[in-house]
Amino acid sequence: MRRSRIVGMGHFVPERVVTNDELGQQMETSDEWIVQRSGIRERRWVEGNVGASDLAVPAALQALAEAGRTVADVDLILFATLSPDLNFPGSGCILGAKLGIPGVPAMDIRTQCTGFLYSLSTADAMVRSGMANCVLVVGSEVHSSGLDISTRGRDVTVLFGDGAGVAVVAASDDTSGLIDHELHADGRYAEILMVEAPASRLTPRLTKEMMDEGRHFPKMDGKAVFKHAVEKLPALVHSLLGRNGLTLADIALLVPHQANMRINELVARHLGLGPEKVMHNIQKYGNTTAGSIPIALHEAALEGRIQKGDLVLLAGLGAGLTWGGTLLRW
Ligand code: UT7
Repeated sequence: MRRSRIVGMGHFVPERVVTNDELGQQMETSDEWIVQRSGIRERRWVEGNVGASDLAVPAALQALAEAGRTVADVDLILFATLSPDLNFPGSGCILGAKLGIPGVPAMDIRTQCTGFLYSLSTADAMVRSGMANCVLVVGSEVHSSGLDISTRGRDVTVLFGDGAGVAVVAASDDTSGLIDHELHADGRYAEILMVEAPASRLTPRLTKEMMDEGRHFPKMDGKAVFKHAVEKLPALVHSLLGRNGLTLADIALLVPHQANMRINELVARHLGLGPEKVMHNIQKYGNTTAGSIPIALHEAALEGRIQKGDLVLLAGLGAGLTWGGTLLRW
């Protein structure tokens, strides 16, 4: 049976490091509050006019080099982002142009923190069906240009960072690779984490008054999202493993979405997973949303925390609500 696997990965974060103390000079917050509530110590923010596709270019080139492929091999781009370069067209189209591969199909996937997981499962289905052979699966965000950098927005602003991660997913006939995916969405909770404007449901889509009220900045009911995450992620992990006849003992590493270290520690505790089996890098990058899982997975591989043949679980929850997971053999 034709299958697919990740044959190379890359990631890229902007050079500029923004520490918690630096944020403390711009709003009423502190290193102590941020570390205690989220585990974040610093994040990377772009300087000047840099879009999600700009961060994706070096990550994609690195992923292709790691895969021993070139841009000429790519026959599909899937671009997960909640911070596209433009409202439309999608960043996938823009990335294709920047990589010099006009004509290659490209689509954006708008499922926020699970964007990489939805994209990976789509790539897997396209490759298994024979519709694609070599897919660039991109998760990239530039949050910093859309954050409320003031005390009004501090609950959200301190959490988010910019960054991109890319996987090259290609056809494979060995037994390693992408095994299974489980995806969920529940739009009843759409407004617990959202950017409200500009939006098609508003006429006009954006006014000065709306901007004065900060309605173009992200809004989050942090406690509600937190509760959904610690309830739904352990259930998802059990479901994904169970339907594949596996248990947690079979898993070498859980790579969760990096939204909050406390969420991931609680999920690990509910699952009975020791710290050696859970990947964290939120302390360095904050929450890079669609970028977070591929950046963490690539770093885990570079650090030698996963070896060829290991079973790895990816899992995440975020705006939508959306949540999901992928089981793969590295
Ligand atoms: O990837 C997308 C998914 N997102 C998530 O998974 C986020 C999930 N939620 C969370 O991570 C947490 O809820 C937060 C880190 C966002 C907040 O932690 P919390 O323990 O739920 O704090 P809180 O919102 O209940 O706020 C506690 C206090 C409040 O003050 P009062 O009302 O107790 O006086 C806030 O105003 O902390 C205040 N606060 C801050 N203080 C200093 C909120 N943000 C800040 C801040 N610095 N940045």
